[in-house]
Amino acid sequence: AANAMWGGRFSAGVDAIMEAINASIGFDQRMAQQDIAGSRAHAAMLAEAGIISDSDAEAIREGLLTVLSEIEGGTFQFSAALEDIHMNVEARLVELIGEPGKRLHTGRSRNDQVATDFRLWVRDQCDAAVPAIRAVQKALLSQAERGADWVMPGYTHLQVAQPVTWGHHMLAYVEMLGRDVSRFQDARARMNESPLGAAALAGTSFPIDREATAKALGFDRPMANSLDAVADRDFALEFLGAASICAMHLSRLAEELVIWSSAQFRFVTMSDTWSTGSSIMPQKKNPDAAELIRGKIGRILGANLGLLTVMKGLPLTYSKDMQEDKEGVFDAADTLMLALAAMAGMVETMSPNREKLAEAAGTGFSTATDLADWCVRVLNLPFRDAHHVTGALVALAEKTGRDLPELTLEEMRSVKPEITEDVFTVLSVDNSVASRTSYGGTAPANVRAQIARWKEALT
Ligand code: ARG
Repeated sequence: AANAMWGGRFSAGVDAIMEAINASIGFDQRMAQQDIAGSRAHAAMLAEAGIISDSDAEAIREGLLTVLSEIEGGTFQFSAALEDIHMNVEARLVELIGEPGKRLHTGRSRNDQVATDFRLWVRDQCDAAVPAIRAVQKALLSQAERGADWVMPGYTHLQVAQPVTWGHHMLAYVEMLGRDVSRFQDARARMNESPLGAAALAGTSFPIDREATAKALGFDRPMANSLDAVADRDFALEFLGAASICAMHLSRLAEELVIWSSAQFRFVTMSDTWSTGSSIMPQKKNPDAAELIRGKIGRILGANLGLLTVMKGLPLTYSKDMQEDKEGVFDAADTLMLALAAMAGMVETMSPNREKLAEAAGTGFSTATDLADWCVRVLNLPFRDAHHVTGALVALAEKTGRDLPELTLEEMRSVKPEITEDVFTVLSVDNSVASRTSYGGTAPANVRAQIARWKEALT
């Protein structure tokens, strides 16, 4: 039999494989609540504008509430023959209330309907991402507080560069995640316009009130161009873009945690509750949560590229390709929320190892820059010359298997006779970090000020 919703011109039903490739109900049922909210706003507006009667609108409203409770209660029978959430809801509505249900689709199309539902869904996800990111920030902040002045190596090229503080390193991620929050907020503000009422693509001849439906659904205004309204998916791409950047940040942190929990580093010990063992090697404790975050992030990046690829060749306006917009976004949203929750839990419960961090902070000639700066400040050498002198001292220390503070004053003077005993004060890692008082630098006083600022911002 032909399709009950659009089968007027058809004499036969679709092939089983056609139904399988066509149906989106398997995933778009996640937008049921948004679909029903959109339909309720549309029906109320139709009555207000005199397009349908008040009693029809009331029957539709009641019917939609019943449909929603059936879906929420798990008794709703989803049908692949009815393709998607829009037609599943509408068909059940008609089953429940009869003729008034058939008037709901006046001045509307599935094209503006799906664009509306999906926007509402993605908007909710932008909102949900914010507290989830904040939770990771709070966990990092409490780690920063715990070791605001603990010294550790700062790296470039994963080679020891200069000593920094643990608190400073934690706060670097707090900053990155702060920008992630604002990216989701920006995306939300930009996507908050209503496609509803664009109808199939050209608008409608019915005297609909798009301002009213926009307002009822919490949108700032209706979208200005009906073709754009049904054709574009940049709102979903902005969500995926924000999610991808946030995911990339999580993945870098996860990578550091994997490195830091290795036997060669031991900078942190992950809590047992966020680790697993090996079925053969009894000694093993693996940072699986960090590895899984790092691994799962690929799904988010993939979804981002996947949707760009779906969209890039489509002429205006709607094409069925666009039905492929949802699964990637759903999966990316789920993955991001899971990764954020796991990261918050892991960071909250991990134990930084103060001694290991301090021990590593002094390796790799990490105070060489302090020595060069000292030569500039005290001996008035041009920085390039100071760099050269220091390089020679590093070479001397390296050749004899020692660190810079272990060189004798005589050895130092063999390279640069003007060097005095005072130089040794700048070679300690504690003095090094304490001296980095420039704004944004790693000095503990700076770090404490930033912790205070973030504490305020996050409460
Ligand atoms: N299930 C469809 C989607 O997700 C809804 C829109 C269908 N519109 C259409 N004219 N076939 O994109």
